[in-house]
Amino acid sequence: MSERSVLVTGAARGIGAATAIRLAEAGDRVVCLDICADDPALDYPFSTFEDLATTVEACGESAEGVAADVRDSTSLAGCLEDHEFDVVVCAAGAVWGGKEIWDTPEAVWRQMMAVNLDGVFNTAFVTVPAMIESENPGRFVAVASAASMRGLHLMGAYAAAKHGVVGLIRSLAADLADTGVTANAVAPGATATTLLEASADVYSLEDSSEFANHHANQRILQPDEIADAIVWLCSDGASAVTGSVLSVDGGMTAT
Ligand SMILES: NC(=O)c1ccc[n+]([C@@H]2O[C@H](COP(=O)([O-])OP(=O)(O)OC[C@H]3O[C@@H](n4cnc5c(N)ncnc54)[C@H](O)[C@@H]3O)[C@@H](O)[C@H]2O)c1
Repeated sequence: MSERSVLVTGAARGIGAATAIRLAEAGDRVVCLDICADDPALDYPFSTFEDLATTVEACGESAEGVAADVRDSTSLAGCLEDHEFDVVVCAAGAVWGGKEIWDTPEAVWRQMMAVNLDGVFNTAFVTVPAMIESENPGRFVAVASAASMRGLHLMGAYAAAKHGVVGLIRSLAADLADTGVTANAVAPGATATTLLEASADVYSLEDSSEFANHHANQRILQPDEIADAIVWLCSDGASAVTGSVLSVDGGMTAT
């Protein structure tokens, strides 16, 4: 097996950054992709070019940073036209909440679908054909959520999009059939990132540590803990695992 070429979206910080660094430490050549620009529809900051540069530096000399928007398949294809990947991890995502479904602005609904669900489709559309042809075993992993398993009060658009990610991944696994490429999702619980802080604001919590009460293990998870599960799904050892949703949620959805 030759050195693997890896794409991680949403790689400038949080779960994406932790995953990119873990995969680079394991010897993969990593392309770190992020939008590196705020979304005016959302009231919390996205990553910056500096964040992306920090991740790329931590991934080592063979790593590369790409600024691109996973919502835009044409621009995504253009930015990645010189690349072929063995492993793809879709961690780009965003959260919005504060209103019941019937009061959710249509533009926000579309935005949640665009980044969290279309973003995974666009990434698969651009990368999977070459992955099927690679001599290395292909691995496609999407970061879903505990919100893929249950409805969320005041965060319905996000939860609906994350449910969609599970349907997409299971169907992708079916389509990949006997190609040797696997497609899986991880479903994290509350993990210490900017997105979790934004979720705490939705519920007017003093800070995000209150989400620990939803976990059987009674603590907030760290991005490295989600990254470790993703790295395993990307490994040779996970060759029989496809179409699965791996809960990494401190027991949240089990109890
Ligand atoms: N943190 C949690 O508690 C939690 C729980 C379950 C699932 N998740 C999921 O984990 C994934 C990573 O989130 P995180 O918690 O690390 O949050 P984060 O906000 O720290 O990271 C998300 C990254 O995605 C990037 N991004 C946003 N829109 C983009 C776009 N259109 N194109 C490219 N990049 C874009 C952001 O700039 C940011 O760097 C997301 O899919 C999120 O839904 C997070």
